[in-house]
Amino acid sequence: MSRGTNGNRIGWPQPWLWAMERAVEAAAAHRPHPNPRVGAVVLSSSGRPVATGTHRAAGSPHAEIVALAGAGSDAVGGTLVVTLEPCAHHGRTAPCVDAIAAAGISRVVVGVVDPDPRVSGAGVAALAFAGIAVEVGVPGIDAEAVDPGYFHHRRTGRPRMTLKLAATLDGQTAAADGTSQWITGAAARADAHRLRADADAVMIGAGTLRLDDPSLDVRLPGYTGAQPRPVVIAGDRALPAAASVYRRHPLVYRLGRSGAEPVGLEVLGAADLPAVVKDLGARMLVDVLVEGGPTLARSMLAAGAVDRLVLYLAGRLAGGLGRPLFDGVFATLGDARDLHIDQAIAIGGDLRIVARPC
Ligand SMILES: NC(=O)c1ccc[n+]([C@@H]2O[C@H](COP(=O)([O-])OP(=O)(O)OC[C@H]3O[C@@H](n4cnc5c(N)ncnc54)[C@H](OP(=O)(O)O)[C@@H]3O)[C@@H](O)[C@H]2O)c1
Repeated sequence: MSRGTNGNRIGWPQPWLWAMERAVEAAAAHRPHPNPRVGAVVLSSSGRPVATGTHRAAGSPHAEIVALAGAGSDAVGGTLVVTLEPCAHHGRTAPCVDAIAAAGISRVVVGVVDPDPRVSGAGVAALAFAGIAVEVGVPGIDAEAVDPGYFHHRRTGRPRMTLKLAATLDGQTAAADGTSQWITGAAARADAHRLRADADAVMIGAGTLRLDDPSLDVRLPGYTGAQPRPVVIAGDRALPAAASVYRRHPLVYRLGRSGAEPVGLEVLGAADLPAVVKDLGARMLVDVLVEGGPTLARSMLAAGAVDRLVLYLAGRLAGGLGRPLFDGVFATLGDARDLHIDQAIAIGGDLRIVARPC
């Protein structure tokens, strides 16, 4: 296979490229965390697309199995194009490589190797051992980008932590009286709900819980997917006796002194925020959205626990001091954190900036 240079596609059969693009689209449509988002397309021996599969939820059939079932006998001598390396181990379902071989597939085009230690090249090796030709990686298609949280989680054991903030254009996240709903317009708020829909958990601090009593659920028209689990970070002060998220099995961590806790609420102890993040990873939460106020935002940044920042800047000016994006003192320029700005776009009358700490 000629891969050309600079990631160009010289020598790559058009049906494979087309099929991988469709497979990526299929993968993106569902959030089966803690399992990966995966999409697959079966091409017949003549290169004709015959079936598409998606992994919809943990415990449900893998994308390859769905696509092979759809293809039936058309899979014989055909090509399976799949965004992620097929599994070779027994989990809740049987190994995909066995099903691929049994279906008579002669070639598999894999988007990216699975970093999960139970797979990690074993799927590619098993396919090759079965006499099936395997190609890994399609130039110009970043198959990891379909589920960055999954790759981050499997490589580090921690969830990808996305800090989401909203502020006026002059950087005020709440007014002096604590009011902050709603700083941005309807389009940016709908976009923020899509971030929630992509998250396995949404984290706030006890300050936001007390002041806003948020529900932290996805409220998009027609949304029927899973709701993210609420996570609350408490310090030394008492939590409210009642709050909307208490009904949604929140994970509540107390980082300070424990006292009397609300009746019926399980409160977990943790040493610090990195310990919380580690525990969330051990609970197989893959993508966590942090929607706290300036205290939690500051703590997360200081702890080096932010993997991605999504900042909504409203098309409005506060014109004075209320609450900053991050509490605390900016003592000297050397303390500033450098960011990679990945995206800056207008949403409605507001701006959205997506960035990563360097
Ligand atoms: N514009 C926005 O994007 C946005 C988003 C969320 C909230 N807000 C606004 O922010 C305001 C609330 O601000 P806030 O700073 O109080 O909210 P917060 O950051 O959500 O919560 C702060 C509380 O979280 C706990 N906490 C956070 N980090 C901790 C750490 N490292 N160790 C121990 N405890 C920790 C402490 O709880 P204890 O109190 O128990 O010590 C602390 O008082 C509200 O006006 C809300 O509307 C704005």
